[in-house]
Amino acid sequence: MIDDLLSMEDLSAAHITRILDTAAEFKDLGIRPIKKVPVLRGRTVCNLFYEDSTRTRISFEVAEKRLSADVINFSAKGSSVSKGESLKDTALTLQAMGVDAIVIRHQASGAPQRLTEWVDAKVLNAGDGWHQHPTQALLDLYTIRERLGELDGLHVALCGDILHSRVARSLVQGLATMGCRVTLVAPPTLMPPEVSSWPVTVTHDIDSVLADLDVCYLLRVQNERMAEQFFPSVREYARIWGMDIHRLGRMPEHAIVMHPGPMNRGVEISADVADAGQAVITEQVTNGVAVRMSCLYLMLGGEETQADQGSPR
Ligand code: CP
Repeated sequence: MIDDLLSMEDLSAAHITRILDTAAEFKDLGIRPIKKVPVLRGRTVCNLFYEDSTRTRISFEVAEKRLSADVINFSAKGSSVSKGESLKDTALTLQAMGVDAIVIRHQASGAPQRLTEWVDAKVLNAGDGWHQHPTQALLDLYTIRERLGELDGLHVALCGDILHSRVARSLVQGLATMGCRVTLVAPPTLMPPEVSSWPVTVTHDIDSVLADLDVCYLLRVQNERMAEQFFPSVREYARIWGMDIHRLGRMPEHAIVMHPGPMNRGVEISADVADAGQAVITEQVTNGVAVRMSCLYLMLGGEETQADQGSPR
């Protein structure tokens, strides 16, 4: 397996399939009365979060605890970062304490890559700037495969704020690696300039693709990353690019609606679509735990310890 999980670019189809297959075996654990296996007993994992998170942070912590790892939670707020401590010095402090893996979310693209230069611990990228969010892409691929049976040949549309989205950059790579056809739908102002080199088709008209989709993936409008106005108004955005119940009705019956969260209900997705049967948004969250268990298990050498400790499943 890979040493660090930094970008979907580093994962081949065989890597992705192995991670998803291992996650499928861990998923059952989540419905057992005792939701714990000893495969990472004695290993220490630090969750190093410089940027806000609900799903990713809790999901990693649940995954680590279900694997019996010792867990340290570090938040930039309330730490010596507020006294000016650099990422490098924080990394060297963790290195000196002998942590085995660091899960990092950082507002700067490339921060997880820099971290690998300072520590021996395995590094897992939990989202860096606009760049990458590989475990989100993996849990999305898992959810699509689980719901629709396969990935190869599916048509997936990613709709909304592509420009600021690390989720889009990760998922496009993962979908392309697994043989999916990808269409990006966004206002021209929210389409990245470099998109011409991506393995995608581009449109500004969501209504032109709905009838042909297997998956419609809505992206959050990232107001916190916008210093200027990218579209006339929220109402206009929802009307032209948002997924509502009428648009849902134009998708094939088998098609699913996804969103990485957090959602802006009434903007990129209406409340009734978010709660509809075709929406798999809470399934994405459930699958995130199994996928992160799989990544930690495969990266921290769980397979070597399995013989001593019994099967995790
Ligand atoms: N999907 C996602 O990354 O959500 P959080 O920001 O809550 O972790």
